[in-house]
Amino acid sequence: MLCHVDEHDLDPDPLVALRAWLSDAEGVSARPDAMTLATATADGRPSARVVLLRGLDARGLVFFTNRTSRKSKELAENPRAAIVLHWPELGRQVRVEGAVEPVSGAESRAYWETRPRESRIAAWASPQSRPIGDRGELERLYNAKAERFGDDIPLPGFWGGYRVVPDAVELWAHRENRLHDRIRYERTPTGWRRERLAP
Ligand SMILES: Cc1cc2nc3c(=O)[nH]c(=O)nc-3n(C[C@H](O)[C@H](O)[C@H](O)COP(=O)(O)O)c2cc1C
Repeated sequence: MLCHVDEHDLDPDPLVALRAWLSDAEGVSARPDAMTLATATADGRPSARVVLLRGLDARGLVFFTNRTSRKSKELAENPRAAIVLHWPELGRQVRVEGAVEPVSGAESRAYWETRPRESRIAAWASPQSRPIGDRGELERLYNAKAERFGDDIPLPGFWGGYRVVPDAVELWAHRENRLHDRIRYERTPTGWRRERLAP
């Protein structure tokens, strides 16, 4: 199922348009909420990895992670990111660029409460992005945390969400003749401006 894009059918707010595309991808894509997140060091060395989109509203896109991870260190020194979502089943891609800010403790806690026990223990156990000896060490760390906590597993101080606040969003749709559709939105002081880009 490939879907073309006519800018007149797209919402003038790209976050509303993105929400509509996400719901089109649900049930079609195995992992509609998987997004590639690119960050960079202060001197501009990029790195990218997949994270899950866990919040989307007028403010931006939220993901959750370990705040001592490589991505978090890069965001601390260079608080900007780029995101790519790709749904090959729909022939669609979305690119987002923007500033990144940590979400509030309350927002992180609200999401934390929805995570299964195993995921919470794993978050406590894993020194994300740091070298560890072997698989056994990871499992020992996990078991130690599983023993330490009962059913009430608190939000770790080193874990939480980030919000990417978009200043540019591009919606891309495949076309058979390679003349793909690209609609780019840019935030201006008076609202979103939209233009079509050559593919
Ligand atoms: C489908 C998928 C979803 C993932 N979701 C997350 C996520 O939501 N948060 C996270 O910290 N890592 C997630 N990861 C793992 C990251 O890709 C990455 O390995 C990890 O965050 C460490 O990245 P860093 O060392 O660059 O900080 C996911 C990986 C995959 C393949």
